[in-house]
Amino acid sequence: MEHLVNEQITSLNPKLAGSPKGENTVRLDKGELPYPPSTHVIKAIADAAATINRYPAVLGGSLRQSLANYSGAKPEQIIIGNGSDDLIELIVKVFVKPTEEVLLPIPTFFVYCHSTQVMGGNPVFVNRNEDWGLNVDSLLQKITPRTKVIFIANPNNPTANLISRDTILKVLNNVDCIVVVDECYYEICQETVADLVEQYPNLIILRSLSKSFGLAGIRVGYAIANETIIDYLYRAAQLFPVNKLAIVAAIFALEDIEYVCSNIDKIRQEKVKLTASLEQLGLLVYPSATNFLFIRTESLGIPSAKLVEALKTMNILVQDFGLKPGLDAYYFRTAVGTPSDNQQLLVGLKDAIAQF
Ligand SMILES: Cc1ncc(COP(=O)(O)O)c(C=O)c1O
Repeated sequence: MEHLVNEQITSLNPKLAGSPKGENTVRLDKGELPYPPSTHVIKAIADAAATINRYPAVLGGSLRQSLANYSGAKPEQIIIGNGSDDLIELIVKVFVKPTEEVLLPIPTFFVYCHSTQVMGGNPVFVNRNEDWGLNVDSLLQKITPRTKVIFIANPNNPTANLISRDTILKVLNNVDCIVVVDECYYEICQETVADLVEQYPNLIILRSLSKSFGLAGIRVGYAIANETIIDYLYRAAQLFPVNKLAIVAAIFALEDIEYVCSNIDKIRQEKVKLTASLEQLGLLVYPSATNFLFIRTESLGIPSAKLVEALKTMNILVQDFGLKPGLDAYYFRTAVGTPSDNQQLLVGLKDAIAQF
């Protein structure tokens, strides 16, 4: 059967299930919020469960209006997806033909590259500056008539840094292609260029309810862009990309912003403490506008893969970035967890460092 599979799919890596996670596992590898969703959200999901014999509302029902109220955009400027991952793939599907190019400042979020490859597009990497900032001139030099989309995660994953509004404007003022600014961590950093969608018809903002709203497991993301782009994205989208329970979860989460803010406050405080403690261990911690920290291990002379593996044997999960596109062998990322998670990480790291 293999000869029937599209060529660009055969070259992708198989997905691995990952080992089962026990209750005592410290889960800092996926950048998740360590707190459960608000009790209003949990109750709303339970109440809606009795109606799942019916399909969800097309276009997400009243969630679109809730997101409009929350973001300040018009409902017609919003599309809802099954996580922002879903919308990343949809954007590539709508704008990129096989062999056309998608520009990616690296290191960055791996799904941009993966979705481009799935659609037969051609990912083109541009290296970032040493401080992970965008080098707009190098970016512009890589633009060709075949460039259809640029993905800019702001703040970026895994490097956690913000790109200034001026830098994004410089990109927007010099290109014709679609510019996606992924604001997955908007609630944490409070920086946005969503107000520019009226002025720039090629700008798409991506947002997610996975991180700050604590809804990673139910999958809701949204995009803000001008009405024409949203209309085309919806034409290509599935009829029911977001399930009923996810729709009510998102509506109720958006009504409980106080809970979201209190969780973000806790994460901000823990981030400061965790950064200081990691630095005391001799690690380089980059400034973070997100709920995770990007860490360099070179000063200890220990490749990150070794530390990450040693932590895994202690049931502490963080994400290795050693030798990922745009990086050498000395980087890993950890989410900021609960005080107990962070304490366990620090104890584990101390042990692991002593082993080498
Ligand atoms: C920059 C960025 N965009 C998008 C996502 C995916 O978000 P979602 O859970 O909404 O698919 C992530 C997840 O880590 C991310 O870091």
